[in-house]
Amino acid sequence: MLLIIYSVLLLVFFLLLRKVLVRMKVVSKFSTNRRLDGKVAIVTGGSDGLGFAISTELVQKGAIVFILSRNQSKLSAAASKLRKYAVPKEFSSNDELSSSLQYKNETVITCQVDLSDLESVREFIDFYKQKNRKVDILINNAGLITNEVKVSPQGHDLVMATNYLGHFLLTESLLIDSQPTTIINITSDMSSLFGRIDSEHPGQISLNAFQKLLNVNNLVYMNYSYAMAKKAMEMYSQHFMTSLNFSGSSRMFCANPGLLNTNFMSNWPNWMEKLLKPILLRTAMKSPADGVHVVMKCLFLPEVHEQNVNEQFGLVFKGVKSYKSLNYYPDVECEQLYRNTRLLLSQWITDTS
Ligand SMILES: NC(=O)c1ccc[n+]([C@@H]2O[C@H](COP(=O)([O-])OP(=O)(O)OC[C@H]3O[C@@H](n4cnc5c(N)ncnc54)[C@H](OP(=O)(O)O)[C@@H]3O)[C@@H](O)[C@H]2O)c1
Repeated sequence: MLLIIYSVLLLVFFLLLRKVLVRMKVVSKFSTNRRLDGKVAIVTGGSDGLGFAISTELVQKGAIVFILSRNQSKLSAAASKLRKYAVPKEFSSNDELSSSLQYKNETVITCQVDLSDLESVREFIDFYKQKNRKVDILINNAGLITNEVKVSPQGHDLVMATNYLGHFLLTESLLIDSQPTTIINITSDMSSLFGRIDSEHPGQISLNAFQKLLNVNNLVYMNYSYAMAKKAMEMYSQHFMTSLNFSGSSRMFCANPGLLNTNFMSNWPNWMEKLLKPILLRTAMKSPADGVHVVMKCLFLPEVHEQNVNEQFGLVFKGVKSYKSLNYYPDVECEQLYRNTRLLLSQWITDTS
């Protein structure tokens, strides 16, 4: 009798789980025929996965796109694919892009940058600023998850360094208060897991004793460090929109694309990729192009909803709906995290104004 009850409960559990996973696959689409001609965009991790799909859309809409990642041959291959989508455009000397005129025949510029290495990010910033006055669109997309503890060249946790510190440095160094930029940080459902971030030590991940006990195959570390890095980017977004955006000209969003069929899982433990991926592919996983809708929604939001837009900046979007408000995290913690991150990176940050 007990066996029958357990079997029925298990069946109900799997049916419910399947329902949840299938719902995750639904793509809420956003489309607009508005263009981005002459706009300059930077996409981190633009050589692959979601970043490549976002870059494709930006290039098709007429933007000049800088794609950043670590591997030059992947970057070159991605760039030659992207250039096929580019719409030829004549630039005049009065063009808004005059500071970037040396790119007038270029729609895609590849930059070999390791986001986890602050020196490498700094080099890119110097290179970029020599030729460009401003950036119109910054997509902080590059990300990784690792199933073992690794450290960055400067000794920070590698996942925190790549997903948070590198993007923080890039954003703080490139933004100019008087010039409007739309910044979109790619986040994940995972940001809601595992409680609070250690805002005193933004470059470190420290598992507590209980978590260490559970740390089978480093599964806990893998999910924890990733969740913390995403949480940190969301807290940065909240602080940016509530306290830093003095002129009100820029806007920052977080976009959650949902589960995507990319190379992202290649750093999961082998057994997880083999066991989980086929199930997720059939149920929850979408294509990288499906993940672009939420990014475009954020990019064009001000034009789409002309009223009350200020209330929508800084929000976390998934599909066409926002699901976390500006005050999701305690303001004091966001402020503390911001201050300590600035302190940690003070050697690399040069203010723009
Ligand atoms: N896939 C999902 O299910 C999913 C779900 C929610 C959120 N996301 C988020 O979506 C974003 C994109 O992920 P994806 O799925 O497209 O992953 P992906 O296919 O693995 O692509 C990651 C991109 O980031 C680059 N990258 C990785 N580490 C880097 C570093 N240290 N410096 C510079 N570039 C680096 C990679 O190029 P190189 O390796 O050549 O450097 C690649 O271009 C991530 O932020 C991820 O957290 C993904």
